[in-house]
Amino acid sequence: MKNAEAFSSNDKILTPLKTLQELIRFVIPRGNKEMPIRIILALIFLSLATLVSVYTPFLYGKAVDLVAEGKLVDLNLLWLVIGSYALARLGQVFFDEAKEFVFARVAQRAVRGAALKAFKHMHSLSLTFHLNRQTGGLTRAIDRGAKGIEFLLRFTAFEIVPVIVELFTVGIVLWVTFGFVYAAVTVSTVLVYIVYTIKVTEWRIAIRRKMNIADENASTKAIDSLLNYETVKYFNAEIVEAERFDAAMKLYEDSAVKARASLSIVNIGQGGIIALGLFIIMGMAGEDIASEKMSIGDFVVVNTFLLQLYLPLNFLGFVYREIRQSLLDMGRMFALVDEKPDIIDKQKAYDLNVHSGKIEFKNISFSYGNRKILKDLSFVVNPGHKVAIVGPTGAGKSTISKLIFRFYDPSSGNIYIDDQCLRDVTQSSLRSNIGVVPQDTVMFNDTIKYNISYSKPGSTMIEIENVAKLSSIDKFIADLELGYETVVGERGLKLSGGEKQRVAIARALLKNPKIFIFDEATSALDTKTEKLIEKSLKKLSNKNTTLVIAHRLSTVIDADKIIVLENGKIAEQGTHKELLQKNGLYAEMWMRQQEKSD
Ligand SMILES: Nc1ncnc2c1ncn2[C@@H]1O[C@H](COP(=O)(O)OP(=O)(O)OP(=O)(O)O)[C@@H](O)[C@H]1O
Ligand SMILES: [Mg+2]
Repeated sequence: MKNAEAFSSNDKILTPLKTLQELIRFVIPRGNKEMPIRIILALIFLSLATLVSVYTPFLYGKAVDLVAEGKLVDLNLLWLVIGSYALARLGQVFFDEAKEFVFARVAQRAVRGAALKAFKHMHSLSLTFHLNRQTGGLTRAIDRGAKGIEFLLRFTAFEIVPVIVELFTVGIVLWVTFGFVYAAVTVSTVLVYIVYTIKVTEWRIAIRRKMNIADENASTKAIDSLLNYETVKYFNAEIVEAERFDAAMKLYEDSAVKARASLSIVNIGQGGIIALGLFIIMGMAGEDIASEKMSIGDFVVVNTFLLQLYLPLNFLGFVYREIRQSLLDMGRMFALVDEKPDIIDKQKAYDLNVHSGKIEFKNISFSYGNRKILKDLSFVVNPGHKVAIVGPTGAGKSTISKLIFRFYDPSSGNIYIDDQCLRDVTQSSLRSNIGVVPQDTVMFNDTIKYNISYSKPGSTMIEIENVAKLSSIDKFIADLELGYETVVGERGLKLSGGEKQRVAIARALLKNPKIFIFDEATSALDTKTEKLIEKSLKKLSNKNTTLVIAHRLSTVIDADKIIVLENGKIAEQGTHKELLQKNGLYAEMWMRQQEKSD
């Protein structure tokens, strides 16, 4: 199994530039008129907020000058100035919030669009892709990517852009009002602050990355361990599990402490830069007041500008780091969306048309990686027939059913259904025509009703009860307190193996396809129940083509043909009788099973 580190560092990630290009497609979906309008409105509010916030310190300074006049002050003017000051402060907040309000929909729509696309895409990727991943890792990648979008949009729009606009405006205003030196000191203080923060943050990112990896690692360990609750108990491994978890947590503890220490270095440096800037500005203003070039109000104004500019930068380190991280997270998510499915419908793919249900394997070879599983396999399942595939474990029986369902494409050879090559038809039409009861059935953690009707959403209760009866699960369900509304537990673990199998059979029957594949579908049932189900199936299978994979040979005696698979090749085939007469592998398997049941 891959571990958490492998997931977070080996994954493909798009470059920041490509990531931003992808992002724009979600921010302004093609043909959407609302989002551009919202963006323009947000920009207007942003400009208004900036104008007001640049003007506010002047009102403040004016008020200070007026107050300094003491008894001589014109009270009407004072009230006017203070009133305007109060209004300006309110205006700042108002325009800021208005901007947030119109933009929120833009950001959230982009998040939703991208997350949905990623989610859909995950389902379109092949089984191979998913078998090589940890599902938790995938959902996390989507989750983080989506959060990254939100963060990036919100913080660029609301933190970075405003600060830059304001810095620029304040520089000009200071220059015009108090001269170049004041503007230069203020702007350079802030610039030094920004450069320092970014540089130090770069250094911190490496430290924090270690912390995050440790965190991810600890959480996968915990999830994996709890998912395997039963296995842990079987092997008395609680202590080992706790030790593994603790080792992961210790790594996290160490790196988290380091990360916190590095944050102090950032904060102290930032504080120093601002203190120095204030020292210079206040000193200059003090001198200018002494030589009567400046009023006390002006002194307040230059101070306020520096403080006002630096306040939002308080979070710059955090914002910078998060934006970088957001770019990475989004890059990873978009790269997942870029991942090409192994099995894609041909451009000219047509819908499979099943009229009789003949399946034909022509010279099929198949390997998982470089392990050859099927070797030049050819056979035909005639319409309406029941064909059984038997053979030793690991022979490739389930693989055959996966090839028919087109989870994989054969490395050579072709599979035909009613003379249509599977490579040429659409996957959805193929899958809608096949009902599979897989070897290991898992259920959704929902009701029995939901799980049965999964194959045909919206089916009526009568239909559901009917298939439940056919698969002999009706009595069991009737005995349950909640009946069809009983929740089956995660992966269906509250049901016994045989109950799960019967729910799975009911589910496949409800789909009512032309072709059935039963992969050890009744292996967990007692012989009596198995016979009952077989009887129901027989009624159906006169119309349907059925492929049965079984270990228990007694279930396939009546098959029209039995294919004995060994080492990826057909060792022998024929009816039960014929094969017994051949006295080969099948006869041997049969004898052995007879002995056992005696
Ligand atoms: N996704 C996979 N990746 C790599 N190897 C696989 C994969 N799935 C199956 N195999 C291997 O392919 C071989 C055939 O598997 P398959 O499931 O088809 O066997 P089977 O005949 O159904 O066996 P059983 O009777 O035990 O169900 C096995 O050796 C198995 O380890
Ligand atoms: Mg199998």
